[in-house]
Order: sequence, then structure tokens, then C-alpha cells
Amino acid sequence: MSTVALITGAASGIGAAVARRLSTGGVKCVLLDMDGEGVERLAKELDGAWLAADVSTEEASLEAVALAEQRYGRLDLVHLNAGITGRVDLADFDLARYRQVVGVNMDGVVFGVRASMPLLLRSGGGAIVVTSSLAGLTAFAGDPVYTMTKHAVVGLVRALAEPLAAQNVRIGAVCPGFTDTPLVAEARDMFVNAGFPLLTAEDVAAAVESAFYSETPGTLLIVQPGRQPVPYRYAGVPGPVGGQRPPRQD
Ligand SMILES: NC(=O)c1ccc[n+]([C@@H]2O[C@H](COP(=O)([O-])OP(=O)(O)OC[C@H]3O[C@@H](n4cnc5c(N)ncnc54)[C@H](O)[C@@H]3O)[C@@H](O)[C@H]2O)c1
Repeated sequence: MSTVALITGAASGIGAAVARRLSTGGVKCVLLDMDGEGVERLAKELDGAWLAADVSTEEASLEAVALAEQRYGRLDLVHLNAGITGRVDLADFDLARYRQVVGVNMDGVVFGVRASMPLLLRSGGGAIVVTSSLAGLTAFAGDPVYTMTKHAVVGLVRALAEPLAAQNVRIGAVCPGFTDTPLVAEARDMFVNAGFPLLTAEDVAAAVESAFYSETPGTLLIVQPGRQPVPYRYAGVPGPVGGQRPPRQD
């Protein structure tokens, strides 16, 4: 029986690299992206399933999970990766843009976890990896709202780690530095001219795959150029506190 993965933001960059990497290893992939042409093209290349939809709507994740069940009968790995940069100026505020960034980067992850849990459980457990960012651990003054969203998903992952592990679902996150994808295309020349090393999407894909199989729930993998991914360690703050019901399973 093949392993089945759902990847969001799969048409480009890190998500596409994860889809290619998993597919090469024999994993059946369900690809979700707003870019219909791109996601269809990659799905055909990988002989996978695809859905063109917006992760900031709850239906997108529900439909993608339904597609995984209908096509492959199970779900084992979920990569909640779709994301956009903020560029929201707090002084010259664009409310629609703000809602869009929060919708994709935060709501998309919450909806993805909720939608995938029932099928992961019916499949006997599995793993969820969220693409956060170094900006999920440190202050990126260049984009405060993006930084907020990436910190938020780190908090979600940490708080869900133990309750989901108790149900045999591991959740973790990758926190990559700047990666050479269309997301940073505008700044690419500046990085190159400054001799600033960029990660490749394939570097991050390798870290995502290792995060799927991390033994420790809630692992946040820092990914930087020229170094092995390393789990982030919080210092001086207490470990998990209290308990909340995990997402409903119905
Ligand atoms: N590139 C970097 O430097 C970098 C660094 C750290 C983290 N990240 C994170 O990595 C993830 C992937 O980014 P990338 O660099 O591969 O960028 P990318 O732009 O190459 O790919 C993002 C994909 O997400 C899709 N997408 C955007 N909004 C969507 C929505 N509402 N619904 C469905 N799909 C949507 C896009 O169509 C695109 O295919 C993002 O969460 C990003 O924040 C990127």
C-alpha cells in the first residue's frame, strides 16, 4: 500500500520540490494550489491528483482531503505549505491585503489541520508539517505581518504537538531562511549581488521529509544554507502547559 501525501501550495517553489521528492520515493501526492494550470501540470508530471482552490477557505482543505480519500483511500503525510508574503504597511493599511495574508498563512494551516485529521486517524495516524519560516522564530522587521503569521503557526504546532501525538499524528514545522523561489524573486538579485547564500527549494524539501519522520512531536526545524537542519530549542520558557481537546474527529 502506497503512502499518500497532501501538499498545499504545491504548484511552485518549496511545495513543488516536496511533491517531486516524495513522488520519487513512491508516495502518491494530492496537490492543492490556487494556480490551476501550474498544479495540473505538476500533477500530470507526477501522476498525482490535484485541486485548484484557495486554502484561506475551509472548503479547499476539505475537498483536497476528500480527493485523497476518493483517489487513494487514505492519507499519511500533510504538508501545509501555501503562503504569501505580507508587505502590509501598518501606517498605510490595506485591510483586504492584511486579511488575505492572515487567511492564507494562518487560516489555511488551521483549516488544513482540521480537515486532514479525520482521514489521518482513519489511516492509522501520520504526520503534518507546516512551512513556517525563520520569521516564525525571529523578528523580520521587513515584514511584520508575515512575521506575525509565521510565529502564529509555530504556536499552533507547539500547542497541538502533544494532543495529536497521543492520537499517533506527529506535527512539526520547518523554519527556512530565504529560499530561491518565486516568492523572493524581487529580492533575488540583491541577495546574489551581496553574496548572501540562498537555500534551494530542494534543500527545504529534504528538511520537510525529515520533519515528517521526526521522533519528537512539535519539532521546529531551522533550515539554513550550508548547514544540516537543526531543531530550534526555546530557552528560559516552561514546556507545554495545560491541555485542550484536540481538533474534533467527526
Ligand atoms: N521563499 C522563501 O524565502 C521562504 C522562506 C521561508 C518560508 N517560506 C514559506 O514557504 C512556503 C512556500 O513558499 P515558496 O517560497 O515556495 O513560494 P512560491 O510562491 O514559490 O510558492 C507558493 C505557492 O503557494 C500558492 N498559493 C499562494 N496562495 C495560495 C492560496 N490562497 N491557496 C492555495 N495556494 C496558494 C502559490 O500559487 C504558489 O504555488 C510559504 O509558506 C512561505 O511563506 C518561504
